[in-house]
Amino acid sequence: MSTTDLTGTTFPEGFLWGGALAANQYEGAYDVDGKGLSIQDVMPKGIVAPPTEEPTPDNLKLEGIDFYHRYAEDIALFAEMGFKVFRFSIGWSRIFPKGDETEPNEAGLAFYDRVIDECEKHGIEPLVTLSHYETPLHLAKTYDGWVDRRLIGFYENFARTCFERYGKRVKYWLTFNEINSVLHAPLMSGGIWTPLQQLSKQDLYQAIHHELVASASVTRIAHEINPDLKVGCMVIAMPIYPLTPNPADVLKVMQADHDNLAFSDVHVRGTYPGYFLRKLRELGVELDITDEDRNTLKNTVDFVSFSYYVSICETSDPTKQTKGEGNIIGGVPNPHLEASEWGWQIDPVGLRIILNQFWDRWQKPLFIVENGLGAKDELVEVDGVKTVIDDYRIQYLNDHLVQVREAIADGVELWGYTWWGPIDVVSASTAQLSKRYGFIYVDRNDDGTGTLERHKKKSFDFYQQVIATNGASLR
Ligand code: BG6
Repeated sequence: MSTTDLTGTTFPEGFLWGGALAANQYEGAYDVDGKGLSIQDVMPKGIVAPPTEEPTPDNLKLEGIDFYHRYAEDIALFAEMGFKVFRFSIGWSRIFPKGDETEPNEAGLAFYDRVIDECEKHGIEPLVTLSHYETPLHLAKTYDGWVDRRLIGFYENFARTCFERYGKRVKYWLTFNEINSVLHAPLMSGGIWTPLQQLSKQDLYQAIHHELVASASVTRIAHEINPDLKVGCMVIAMPIYPLTPNPADVLKVMQADHDNLAFSDVHVRGTYPGYFLRKLRELGVELDITDEDRNTLKNTVDFVSFSYYVSICETSDPTKQTKGEGNIIGGVPNPHLEASEWGWQIDPVGLRIILNQFWDRWQKPLFIVENGLGAKDELVEVDGVKTVIDDYRIQYLNDHLVQVREAIADGVELWGYTWWGPIDVVSASTAQLSKRYGFIYVDRNDDGTGTLERHKKKSFDFYQQVIATNGASLR
């Protein structure tokens, strides 16, 4: 293929099209078959809620959409759309209810056997996230989450159990969802019970170090168990633009980029970058890093995966340093971009930019494992069939995939694309169901009422067509 002629450029053969979900946002059944509580079960308002109360039937978070019992129906719908891959997470507290046990909960393991059976039945490749914002509550409350080094061992035990049980049937694995979010959401991302305002930088960065060592360690374990397994890191990807060409703004961009990229730099290079060590020095943080840790970190990932929702701007001008809405890491709003109903700025070109940036930086295969639009949907009846005419979601999807195609033409090696929330689920940041991402509507309201019936939206057909034509139907 010529690198200059983009006409007819399309997605590579075998491109993995699909969708992504997380256990705590869609499974429901939070206390069924021996599952223990996770931090998510007691975060009623999403990431903003402080962990103040013990869970009771009254303050539990809005449950998911009962995938736990409807998985066969839902996976069949994904198959009907043509999914080649389905990203889901394994609820850690389903397998180890408290997190520090040595023996797993067989009923929890058996559930994911059934999910994988369904995927296999439809020829869908599973892509499994080991830890997606659902640290067992006991580990958070008793150990302060990843601040405690012992979490490494508990996580290794969990990961080994999963690799041994599913490693012959699941090839693609992610260690931690959006691991770089721990800087901003230490409870949700790192299971750290100490409130952010009271958390010392020393403890925060030590927790980060423990997670990075744990991630590298289970990458090694996966490869030992089955050398064919592909293990990736997963980060929030976010292009950061200078608000003006002032070099001081560009420098701010570089520093903000470093905060985000340090995590994948370590995963890919196996060592801490100099800019990160400088930051620790300036913060007065002295990490406890053993020689064994340094060796463990050398177990680098096979690919880099990421979520992409928004871009932001940075400025050195204190009068302009407002913080807009965004995926956990908000930033200065971009005057050139429109925003979603939740204030997340929409920037399809930013996806091409980030794909190029990541590819240029690491030369590692990439995987877009989240991208999507949360919007309010209206259920209507067309010819007696309930549906949603979600042209806005179709537009978003089309525009982002066109930019993905451009990046592939730029030479980026990309394994796949999984849309976030192919079926409506509970929002991570707001705990609402009305913030809908799905191609499939779920009849469930923010107050928990609703029949849980599933209805295909207009975007269902659109994505089905995109997959069937391997992207050629994009506009
Ligand atoms: C990512 C998370 O941050 O964004 C998902 O990995 C989350 O868990 C998604 O659901 C969308 O965010 P939200 O807050 O709109 O659900």
